[in-house]
Amino acid sequence: MKIRLALITSISVLITCTALLQPNNLTAQSSLTEAQIHDKAASLLQQMTLEEKAAQLSQLPGVPAHEFVENAGKPPEEVLKQFGAGSILWVSDPKEINRLQHVAVEQTRLHIPVLFGLDVIHGYRTIFPAPIAMASSWDTKMVESVQTVAAQEARAAGIQWTFAPMVDIARDARWGRMVEGAGEDPYLGAAMARAQILGFQGKQIGSPDHVLACVKHFAGYGAADGGRDYDSSYIPEEEMWNVYLPPFKAALDAGSGSVMSAYMDLNDIPATGNRWLLHDVLRDSWKFNGFVVSDAFAVRSLAIHGYARDPADAAYKAFTAGLNMDMASGTYLKYLPMEVQQKRISMQQIDDAVLPILETKIRMGLFEHPYIDESRIDATLNDPAHRQLARTAVQRAVVLLRNQDALLPLDKTGKTIHSIAVIGELGDAQTDLLSMWGALTKPGPTVSILQGIRDKVGASVRVDYSPGPNLRRNIPSPFGDIAMFANMKPKPTQTSEEVQQSIQDAAALAGKSDTAVLVLGEINFMSGEAASRSSLKLSNSQEDLLEAVSALGKPVILVLINGRPLEISWAAEHVPAILEAWYPGNEGGNGIADVLFGDVNPSGHLPVSWPRVTGQLPLYYNHNLTQIPETSPNFKSRYWDVPSTPLYPFGYGLSYTTFSVDHLNVTPSARVGDKIEVSAEVTNTGDRTGDAVVQLYIHQRAGSASRPVRQLKGFERVALKPGAKQTIHFTLGKDELQFWSPAEKKWLVEPEQFDVWVGQDSTATLHGEFKLTE
Ligand code: NOJ
Repeated sequence: MKIRLALITSISVLITCTALLQPNNLTAQSSLTEAQIHDKAASLLQQMTLEEKAAQLSQLPGVPAHEFVENAGKPPEEVLKQFGAGSILWVSDPKEINRLQHVAVEQTRLHIPVLFGLDVIHGYRTIFPAPIAMASSWDTKMVESVQTVAAQEARAAGIQWTFAPMVDIARDARWGRMVEGAGEDPYLGAAMARAQILGFQGKQIGSPDHVLACVKHFAGYGAADGGRDYDSSYIPEEEMWNVYLPPFKAALDAGSGSVMSAYMDLNDIPATGNRWLLHDVLRDSWKFNGFVVSDAFAVRSLAIHGYARDPADAAYKAFTAGLNMDMASGTYLKYLPMEVQQKRISMQQIDDAVLPILETKIRMGLFEHPYIDESRIDATLNDPAHRQLARTAVQRAVVLLRNQDALLPLDKTGKTIHSIAVIGELGDAQTDLLSMWGALTKPGPTVSILQGIRDKVGASVRVDYSPGPNLRRNIPSPFGDIAMFANMKPKPTQTSEEVQQSIQDAAALAGKSDTAVLVLGEINFMSGEAASRSSLKLSNSQEDLLEAVSALGKPVILVLINGRPLEISWAAEHVPAILEAWYPGNEGGNGIADVLFGDVNPSGHLPVSWPRVTGQLPLYYNHNLTQIPETSPNFKSRYWDVPSTPLYPFGYGLSYTTFSVDHLNVTPSARVGDKIEVSAEVTNTGDRTGDAVVQLYIHQRAGSASRPVRQLKGFERVALKPGAKQTIHFTLGKDELQFWSPAEKKWLVEPEQFDVWVGQDSTATLHGEFKLTE
């Protein structure tokens, strides 16, 4: 009953939040029509000098660091006064934003306001679960609500442009930025991309209380060689179209007003100077008419890549590839005017690049409402509905990976459990629950897992804590030097005696307690940008800690805080309950306690295939068959020292109840161009209310190219009471059935035989088939 109530409460929180999130005109949109917007931008362009145009094509650095201004030659504020600026990066103090905006609007010749940009990735003041966690919810409505709140808070504080969503497909968990995206799958990735754009931007660019989105990093960043951040990606064209580009296309179809180019070489041409990406795909094929910004310093870096001869050539190559705005390197500012004077670039080309930036500023309402009302910021940032939504998001995002003998949920009444030991540095952590970006924007207070558990059980159960080994050792991060991340610096190294002592202390506490909750994983800086790993093992003696506590024979629950799958094969065999919580954000402790104690039934499903060992990477379910597939009885084509399968498959997640999926119905055949209807019935076969995530996979058996063994092509999250059933309907149309054929060099739906599976993860066995005919 309680569970049912909690679920109903969660759903009503969602509904209430959506109602509360209706625009309240804190910031207003442009009153102009599209034609008037264009005319105004064109008329401004006519009045601008070449230097002023180059300034609009530049994002000035807002954080003091000498390298940021190297090529600009002048401090950013001087540039702003003299020429204006397209944008300013990373200024997050509202007073400073207003001050700088007054400079732009009142002291520059043409009074063009600045667009203030910041990484609002999963929250501004209220920090929601990290993107990989939100993708684990398979709940696009919730994700849209979350980014609506993020936008509302950011806009209230003066940020008009977020560098999100990150939609890079990540098939290799060594890559630290897996945490920022929606995982390995193009279909789920596209759904999450769409939801986030709608959340950030609202119905249209310039919607009140929303921000401009910037889908990133275009494109192929997640395929970095060896999972090493920034390393080269080599992606054949068919894999680009079929795997890496669909989430970008979805984001643009949903209206993303800007795109960020990626850092790395794509097939030997850096993404920031890659005309195929920035022009052929984006403009010619997709008809994108917003603007493209580089990643930070990426224009200047073209010379470092060994692609441009010098910074002037870098400016030339990025610009002629189709890049509108230079983020923070100052290269455009200094060299574009020279390139025009030397007639390598025409004024018309410059005008074409500036136009969409001016139009965006007008569309965003910046000319009509350049300043923020500082007196209203706090009310928006401290809205309690935002915290409620953050808690709901945690409840829906966590993934139950193992629950032997129904160890979870725990009893909170004190009848069966009298004492709980919470163990691990992450058990009492706050900032570490936020992920790197969550710590950037003066986040609200964070509820630790220890606190969440204590608040949940009150006086009924004794809760003690032991930190175990220190995790904050030897994790270098280039971001450690940035003042905003100062609280995340490494702690002094512990001696091996100190480490052993900390493990003994933790085990002693567990020995005195009825149940141990171990909170292990990765501190903040261990995942994210410039945080790739060669091994996904639990670091810093956490495995020793886990094994020492498990050896006591007490019930052990492992809660994982991390940005990517970790090597937990030992735990998967020996630890009865495992809950993946990712970086859960401000309400992490509360949301996790809600699940641990059964007030909420877990319902998250993995957006990535979980490897057994690091050596399996890259690992993804939608691979092709081989001449001797892994299902063959002998002579398998994969490794001999580890099974081919993941530890947990893509789409996997347990619940405190059970579901069955049956009664599959599939249109048996259709002509190419017609639709295939699929339906299946899902039943809650257990005794608790819960949410099932019903997933549909297809396989094309033959064609002009080998097709993946399975591909996700539909999903639906559905809440069911015990015994309740629901029929889920899916439609397979052109979007789901087509692929980009390397043989034909185009998108095709082929007249072939297809398999269909519907179930609760990518190993679903409920099978049907259909045939497409000419
Ligand atoms: C570098 C990162 O790659 C990108 O994701 C981010 O948006 C920019 N820096 C700006 O912070």
